[in-house]
Amino acid sequence: MNTSGQHPDLMRAVAQALRDCRLLVVLTGAGVSKESGIPTFRDALDGLWASYDPQRLATPRGFRRDPKLVWDWYQHRRALIAQARPNAGHLAIAALERYIEKVVVITQNIDGLHQQAGSRDVIALHGDIQRNKCFANCQGDPTYIDISTLTWDEEAGPPRCPHCGAYVRPAVVWFEEMLPPAELERAMYLSRVADVMLVVGTSGEVQPAASLPFLARESGVLIVEVNPAITPITRIAHWRLAGPSAVILPQVVAALAGDEDRD
Ligand code: APR
Repeated sequence: MNTSGQHPDLMRAVAQALRDCRLLVVLTGAGVSKESGIPTFRDALDGLWASYDPQRLATPRGFRRDPKLVWDWYQHRRALIAQARPNAGHLAIAALERYIEKVVVITQNIDGLHQQAGSRDVIALHGDIQRNKCFANCQGDPTYIDISTLTWDEEAGPPRCPHCGAYVRPAVVWFEEMLPPAELERAMYLSRVADVMLVVGTSGEVQPAASLPFLARESGVLIVEVNPAITPITRIAHWRLAGPSAVILPQVVAALAGDEDRD
């Protein structure tokens, strides 16, 4: 693997690979949202929330045990995330669509910032924190509920599903839950048939998303990792661009644009 950092030859090689690429998959994790000021799940467990165990806040068991606690935690995180804006890394990923025939973003993030940045095809493997669904999924999985049309006593806990009366919960994937099957299947398929996979800001520790670069590598896809740190994905990456995505990805787009201008 070439690890020569931001050597111009490496950047040129990445740009050339992207020019030749017809299907690009961009797999992202919490690192891509870091420059937008979004705390990771664990980072957000501060202040008032410091004494809580993630098992109580982000599992179906935790929600059954104390729906109000879980709902309040998500309202707190939603308020933080609602203030965030896409950063230069998200914008650069969206800009890649100008140069590459098809770009699909597969994200583990629940913050919606890729969509806000303008990426048109985003697979949100872990859901969307601003949406809600019925805890019983009474009309099929997922039964999304628009809570802006509901009135309820916020001191008492989450609203109730207007169809069945079960509690409403955030439409995110909790620990111990399966990923949405259609999204996961599409992500796996695209990981196998892509020309290039950019792996950005993910620790590669959380399954099943962490297995996607391995699937891609087995299928002969060129893997380019963007991360300031070494991860379990680094050893299977063909190239590594070391640094924050908000710095590196605009450089990638600039190199791509520069190459085009020279034609
Ligand atoms: N730019 C790019 N990458 C960065 C940056 C940055 N500015 N800062 C940190 N990183 C990298 C870290 O080096 C690390 O490898 O981002 C990665 C973040 O790792 P995690 O916090 O483990 O995030 P992620 O891989 O998305 O975790 C997956 O775990 O907590 C659950 O469901 C949650 O979706 C999340 C999942």
